[in-house]
Formats: sequence, C-alpha cells, structure tokens
Amino acid sequence: MSVPLLKIGVVLSTMAMITNWMSQTLPSLVGLNTTKLTAAQGGYPDRSIGVLPANPEESWQVYSSAQDSEGRCVCTVVAPQQTMCSRDARTKQLRQLLEKVQNMTQSIQVLDQRTQRDLQYVVKMEDQLRGLETKFRQVEENHKQNIAKQYKAIKAKMAELRPLIPVLEEYKADARLVQQFKEEVQNLTSSLSLLQQEMGAYDYDDLHSRVVSLEERLRACMQKLGHCGEKTTTLSDLAAHRLNVRHKYTDPSMRVDAGLSNITAKKVMACGKLTGISDAITIKTSGSRFGSWMTDPLAPEGDTRVWYMDGYHNNRFVREYKSMADFMTSDNFTSHRLPHPWSGTGQVVYNGSIYFNKFQSNMIIKFDFKTSTISKSQRLDNSGYSNTYHYAWGGHSDIDLMVDEGGLWAIYATNQNAGNIVISKLHPLTLHIIQSWTTNHPRRSAGESFMICGTLYVTNGYSGGTKVYYAYQTNSSTYEYIDIVLQNKYSHISMLDYNPRDRALYAWNNGHQVLYNVTLFHVIRSEQL
Ligand SMILES: *[C@@H]1O[C@H](CO)[C@@H](O)[C@H](O)[C@H]1NC(C)=O
Ligand SMILES: *[C@@H]1O[C@H](CO)[C@@H](O)[C@H](O)[C@H]1NC(C)=O
Ligand SMILES: *[C@@H]1O[C@H](CO)[C@@H](O)[C@H](O)[C@H]1NC(C)=O
Ligand SMILES: *[C@@H]1O[C@H](CO)[C@@H](O)[C@H](O)[C@H]1NC(C)=O
Ligand SMILES: *[C@@H]1O[C@H](CO)[C@@H](O)[C@H](O)[C@H]1NC(C)=O
Ligand SMILES: *[C@@H]1O[C@H](CO)[C@@H](O)[C@H](O)[C@H]1NC(C)=O
Ligand SMILES: *[C@@H]1O[C@H](CO)[C@@H](O)[C@H](O)[C@H]1NC(C)=O
Ligand SMILES: *[C@@H]1O[C@H](CO)[C@@H](O)[C@H](O)[C@H]1NC(C)=O
Repeated sequence: MSVPLLKIGVVLSTMAMITNWMSQTLPSLVGLNTTKLTAAQGGYPDRSIGVLPANPEESWQVYSSAQDSEGRCVCTVVAPQQTMCSRDARTKQLRQLLEKVQNMTQSIQVLDQRTQRDLQYVVKMEDQLRGLETKFRQVEENHKQNIAKQYKAIKAKMAELRPLIPVLEEYKADARLVQQFKEEVQNLTSSLSLLQQEMGAYDYDDLHSRVVSLEERLRACMQKLGHCGEKTTTLSDLAAHRLNVRHKYTDPSMRVDAGLSNITAKKVMACGKLTGISDAITIKTSGSRFGSWMTDPLAPEGDTRVWYMDGYHNNRFVREYKSMADFMTSDNFTSHRLPHPWSGTGQVVYNGSIYFNKFQSNMIIKFDFKTSTISKSQRLDNSGYSNTYHYAWGGHSDIDLMVDEGGLWAIYATNQNAGNIVISKLHPLTLHIIQSWTTNHPRRSAGESFMICGTLYVTNGYSGGTKVYYAYQTNSSTYEYIDIVLQNKYSHISMLDYNPRDRALYAWNNGHQVLYNVTLFHVIRSEQL
C-alpha cells in the first residue's frame, strides 16, 4: 500500500507547489512587487494575491487570485491609463509580459500533464479498490467457499485502502483546479495576443515607428496650432475595455489625499500625481489684469504673510500683507522696494526671499526681505528673455520661477531647445543650475505652468476654457498628455503657481486673486498606515 499513498503524496505536493508558485513566483515572473490586496470574497485568503507596481499609472498590472468565491482562479490584467504608445519601453514591457505568460502557460501544461498521468494511476487504483470492495462483499456472503485465512487478508487490505477514498475525492477536486488555472492563463494569453494584434500585428519595430510618427505629427500639430488640445490615442482605453478591466483605485490600501490640511498631516503626505483641480475660490479682487501673489511655502507655522506684485514690468514694489485674513479683508500692507524692476509674473517667495527675473535680462535675483538686500544674482544661461520665449499671454513671462516639494525651479526656453520648455532645478543659495530637462513643448504655446512633486504641468491657454493638458515628469524624463479642467473664472490667467505647503494653486485671474485646491493621487503602502 505504500506505493499509491506515496503517489498521492506526490500529487498533493504538486498541487501545493502550484498554489505556492502562483502566489510567490507569479508576481516576480511578471516583474512587479507585491502588495497584498483584499482577498476575493469567500475565497481562500491565503491563496489570493494581488500584484501592484509601485506606480499604478505606469505599467501593466496583473491581479491574480488563486480562487474566487466560486473556486475559480481569476487573473485580471489592467492596462495603463495613459497612452502606452508614447514610449518604446511600454511595448517592451508588454512583450515581456506576454512572454512570461507564455512561459507560465508552458509550466502549467507540464504540471498538468504530470498530474493527469498521476490522476490516471490513482483512478485505476480507485477502480481496483471499489472492485475489491465488491469482491469482499461477495466473499462475505459466501463464507463456505472461502478459507478463513484468505478472508482475513482481504479484510486487512480493505482496511488499509479505505482511508484513501476521501483523499482521492480531494485530489480530484484539486485536479479540477489545475484545469481552471490552465484555462485562466489561456484566457490571459489570448487577451494579450489580441491586444498585441491591435497594437500592430506582432511587429514591434513597426509599432515603434508608428508611435514615432504619431508623436511627430502631434508635435507638428502643436507647433502649428500653438496648442493641440486633443488627447492622444485611446489605444489603452480600448485595451482596457477589451480586457474588461476592474477600476484600479478600489483597493482600500490605496487612498487619495486632497485639499489643505494641517502641517503635521502635510508632512506625511506623500508626493503624487495631479488628478484634479477644484473650482476657483476668489480671495480678493484687486490690481490690474496681470500680476502675481503668493505665500512662502517655507514660512514658519502661523506666518501666512501674503506677497503681492501688480503688473509684469515697470514695477518694483512688492506688497506684504500681514496674513491671508488681512489680505482678504483690508488694504493694509507694507511695501518693499526691489533694487530692480521685475519681468513677467514668475516671481516666487521662498524661505524669506523673493526670487525674480530682472527686467530685460535673463538675470535671476534673490532678494532677502529681512535685510532688504540682494543676497545673490545669477544669469540663467541660454534662457530667452524680453518676450522671446514668453507664455502665450506675453508679458515678458520668459522666466517662471517656482517651488514644489523638491525645491526651486526655473521654467524657460532656449534657442538650443528650439524655443521648447526647459526645466531647471536651481540651487536656492547659489542660483546655479543643479540639473536641466529639455521638453518638446513650445514655450510660447503654453498658457502657464506649475510644478508639483517634480512634475511640470502645462495649461493649454490663458483665456477661455482652460485645462492642464501636458505633464513632464523630471524623475523619469518622460511626458504625457492629460486632461484636467482648470476653471478660468475671469477669462485671463497671467500667473499660476503651486504652493506645496497649502497644496493649492495660486492664480492671478484678470485682476482677481484666486485659489484652487489640488487633488494628488498617491499610493499609501500598508506599512505607512
Ligand atoms: C518588494 O517590496 C518589499 C517590501 O514591500 C521590499 O522589501 C523588497 O525589496 C521589494 N522588492 C523589489 C524587487 O522591489
Ligand atoms: C521564457 O522561457 C525561455 C526559455 O525557457 C527563456 O529564455 C525566457 O527568458 C523566458 N522568458 C521570461 C520572460 O521569463
Ligand atoms: C475563458 O474564456 C472563455 C471564453 O471567453 C470563457 O467561456 C471561460 O469561462 C473563461 N474561463 C475562465 C476560467 O474564466
Ligand atoms: C493636525 O494633525 C494632528 C495629527 O493628525 C492632529 O493631532 C491635530 O489635531 C491637527 N490640528 C488641527 C488644527 O487640525
Ligand atoms: C495696518 O497695519 C498696521 C501695522 O501693520 C497697524 O498698526 C494698523 O492698525 C493696521 N490698520 C488697519 C486698518 O488694519
Ligand atoms: C531657510 O533659511 C534659513 C535661514 O534663514 C536656513 O537656515 C535654512 O536652511 C533655509 N532652508 C532652506 C530649505 O533653504
Ligand atoms: C516619479 O514620481 C512619481 C511621483 O511624483 C512616482 O509615482 C513615479 O513612480 C516616479 N517615477 C520614477 C521612474 O521614479
Ligand atoms: C480646499 O479644501 C479645504 C478643505 O477641504 C477647504 O476648506 C477649502 O475651502 C478649499 N479651498 C479651495 C480653494 O477650494
């Protein structure tokens, strides 16, 4: 009897191997780190896994659970939200994923063959066992014809075999599970193949060249029209539809943080991607059509002094309001006279100093309000100035200085980059460029731009219906087209900047000072909760 029992042991351990393999190897096979998702309802939680990349926007996601409530294995593929043909890396990723799934299929087939073989053996054993049982009954009924010794031997064998029956039943159920696994993987494979076909008939080089030409056309369109508001391909939407995708943000371990909240809370708020902008709230109505206003994101707690600069040239007086409340309710301010007039509306107040572009130059000046002195001035190399590469609204807005969670930035354009936007990270003390990124977005067709968490967001215009439609991520040196409405309440935006302390956008909207809340999406891992 030791042989069949051993066999069944092998079969069962094969089953254990498959489930282990499914839950442990699969995530690494698809090259993604794991984050526990909630187990499928009613399933076996220890057999359910979720696979989630660090950045859900960027890549393919495979959710798989060994069993759902009906005991079926579920694999769900989530296609990236953004256009996936913007980068060759994406198609490479798809190819790799497909290959991995194919490898996985092969492995499952091998396992399946093995278990099928074992199953046949066990089934034969079962038949024998049942035959034996029948025989035994006959024998029992027919005492006389049998020798007592024989009878005893058979009975002993029977007793040995009997516990095997429930094991066999269990095994058969497990074998069905293997079958389901196989089917799921096949379904996944065919979905991916379908997708691949849609993406260009298996020819990735062809796909790549199509992507390149698409991008070229898009760029040409943007250059011609000034701005091309169209969203790029809906290929990934199509793919998502095809694959019958679950919405990504339903996992309770992921949370969206929005709005202004207190400083302690803000410190733990992770950086994220802009997903929404609130309606504008008008704080004050004052000044001319053009200007800028802000608070210092590094000001000590309780310091909500408001800094206010009316006009884009021929002015050197900065107003200081004691607090946001003062700013809203009074016209009581103190004035600071800058040593030079400013240019544009790209000034920023950061850590007690104002950084501004000196009129008719590419000079950046850091002026300390406390000491009323210039603490540093530095040319921004190669930057256009004096309405060479201004924002769409003009106004000598060639150099836009801004601050995000990561520090001080300058947004401008150079001849070297054909008048397209250049992003430079500046050292706040020396004003030297720490690093630069060259984008493909024409500076003059940008309405305004602002930086959040190392990503530059560009609007499509300054008047009429406005939206944020281009985003350049400095951490990966990649860009994408997005579509986030920006309410243009008073029809002319001449300044738009993000304040990382308030998590708000400050805007100068045709003689109105307005604020917008932003919604940033980020993943909070369970260990952070
Ligand atoms: C996966 O995540 C765990 C923690 O969640 C981490 O320790 C491990 O280094 C990560 N592995 C990879 C390959 O990123
Ligand atoms: C798939 O299997 C082949 C051969 O077994 C191997 O060369 C290849 O690297 C595997 N691909 C992946 C993505 O694991
Ligand atoms: C696989 O796809 C087929 C046809 O689309 C479907 O009938 C079948 O139920 C799917 N298998 C599983 C396990 O979901
Ligand atoms: C700020 O957040 C901390 C920690 O979450 C909380 O204890 C405190 O009450 C909050 N303060 C205000 C003013 O909301
Ligand atoms: C204006 O501000 C000054 C000092 O900042 C203060 O002395 C004065 O009372 C304020 N006036 C009003 C009307 O708030
Ligand atoms: C802000 O300024 C203070 C001195 O006024 C300095 O000690 C501190 O390092 C500065 N912080 C940053 C982030 O530049
Ligand atoms: C870039 O930063 C965003 C957050 O702003 C993050 O989600 C993403 O993973 C980062 N990408 C890379 C390639 O580091
Ligand atoms: C931003 O959100 C906060 C809290 O949700 C709210 O009090 C404030 O009014 C909002 N501000 C804007 C400009 O929408």
